[in-house]
Amino acid sequence: MSDVFDNVMDLARRRGFVWPTTECYGSVAGFIDYGPLGTLVKRRIEDLWRQFYVISEGYYEIECPTIGQEAMYIASGHVKGFSDKMCQCPACSEYLRADHVAEAHQVKNAATLSCEDLARSICTLPCPACGKKLGTVEVFSFNLMFQTNIGPGSQRKGYLRPETAQGIFVDFGRLLRFYRDKLPFGTVQIGKSYRNEISPRQGMIRLREFTQAEAEIFVHPEEKEHPNFRRYAEYAFPLLSSEQQLAEVEAKTYTMADAVSKKVIANEYVAYYLALTHELLVTAGVNPQKLRFRQHLPDERAHYAEDCWDAEIFSERFGWVETVGIADRTDYDLRAHADQSGDSFTVYLQYETPRREKRRIINANMGVLGPKYRGKAKAISDALQETTPGKDGATVTIDGEEIFVPADLYEVREEEVDVRGEDIRPHVIEPSYGIDRMIYAVLEHSYHEDEVEGEVRKVMRFPARISPIQVAVFPLMARDGLDTIAGSITRELQNQGILAEYDDSGAIGRRYRRQDEIGTPFAITVDYDTPENETVTLRDRDSMKQVRVRKDQLADLIPALIRGKVAFSSLN
Ligand code: ATP
Ligand code: GLY
Repeated sequence: MSDVFDNVMDLARRRGFVWPTTECYGSVAGFIDYGPLGTLVKRRIEDLWRQFYVISEGYYEIECPTIGQEAMYIASGHVKGFSDKMCQCPACSEYLRADHVAEAHQVKNAATLSCEDLARSICTLPCPACGKKLGTVEVFSFNLMFQTNIGPGSQRKGYLRPETAQGIFVDFGRLLRFYRDKLPFGTVQIGKSYRNEISPRQGMIRLREFTQAEAEIFVHPEEKEHPNFRRYAEYAFPLLSSEQQLAEVEAKTYTMADAVSKKVIANEYVAYYLALTHELLVTAGVNPQKLRFRQHLPDERAHYAEDCWDAEIFSERFGWVETVGIADRTDYDLRAHADQSGDSFTVYLQYETPRREKRRIINANMGVLGPKYRGKAKAISDALQETTPGKDGATVTIDGEEIFVPADLYEVREEEVDVRGEDIRPHVIEPSYGIDRMIYAVLEHSYHEDEVEGEVRKVMRFPARISPIQVAVFPLMARDGLDTIAGSITRELQNQGILAEYDDSGAIGRRYRRQDEIGTPFAITVDYDTPENETVTLRDRDSMKQVRVRKDQLADLIPALIRGKVAFSSLN
């Protein structure tokens, strides 16, 4: 029996939204092509994302390579730990995500189980591919990164990036200077990421090449009050906290101010981006009734993360799907790159007024130290500053050699100094969006069927700013000058940056249906009254109502309708 997924994917294939890739050679799971209309929807969703993050938040976009050198992914932990647990069905040889097999049969917290525990929990379950009982299977970790070589001779290992975030982290020093050495600041990146998913059988939800839109916001570790928190303080939506999940109760609606004060959400920054994500997803066309924010359970959350939430969207076929991850990643990433690269990944922040602090100064007696230790004397003198000397002396390590320096070779003094600032390693707040999952959710939630004149009308109720074709222009007949007028209206709208499509083929009712099916929000029809009184009909996709408007109004009216500045219902 077909469900909304089948209907949506059938429409998506037929009308040029999404296609399997390389069909003539047999398509490969986990890769898709966006057709002409799908590419337009994708660009519009990415531009909406940019409207929120780049234009409104002021977090400028950068573009880094999709291939990264090994050191970067050793530091980030991906080389060692970016893996999923897999097994192979002994009967049909299909590779399976062991935790997904377990989850599908209500095994609790499957994602956090060890290989051995997973093997035990799935041995009585059927293989999702062939249906036979799995029995004794080995579960092992499989690294999801695609590996490649940089340059000839296989000398240098590289990886296709599994997330866009690392490119931003490693550029921290340059970004800091760009933002004039101040916190907070943010940077975003939209682009392809690659994961060699074990068993990608969920269409656009689980791809091996997909688009992420990520923001990395660098904040002072002790200042997690968002400067613009008021914008979302009273914004309310359902939260499924870890406490509620453990108590097995439903999601509960909170305002963001309440959620922070009751410590459901760790801080204002995380709350602010949960709310912004809610607003963005709903603006893009996600049904708010099918959207929830779920907090990671303590054993699901990365050990370094202070708080972590997933925006989950309900799909008729796939259930709740994580579409955006929002985390307070603390200083984990910057610290990891500092340790690996030797750069500091810190910011020097000046205090408003200098602080008077006691400092211990250790002055070496170079007159004795010099002849005694010769070439090492200077290094010993510097190292002494970092030691805590004992009663008889201090031990320093120079080039791996431990040297004991007797107390009569240096003098310890305490003095008060003015300290003007300090080096801080910022914390990172990260909202990470999967654009393809967003697009699938928007396709599924926009899909509607109704009955018009005894026929099923399929209609994609995209928000107007997401619709691929923004307005259709029809001459009632392709003659008597109506086609010329419709053509010039089309060009005038195109000159305004509107994607207007001229269509004169077939009966007018069929032309409306064709545009409804691809979600075109408005249609203009030029009829025999147009040459007489300079008016056209303007039809609204959702209500199917028509109003007459003056032709010379269209250049202002259509962009205003698309941007939601004017409601169609206000026209008469
Ligand atoms: P999942 O548990 O579903 O594999 P994840 O926890 O690995 O997802 P993250 O690593 O948090 O996902 O990635 C951030 C976002 O990138 C996700 O919320 C999702 O929207 C998107 N994403 C991750 N993996 C894929 C994929 N294979 N295909 C499409 N989008 C993906
Ligand atoms: N940058 C978060 C993720 O992709 O996992």
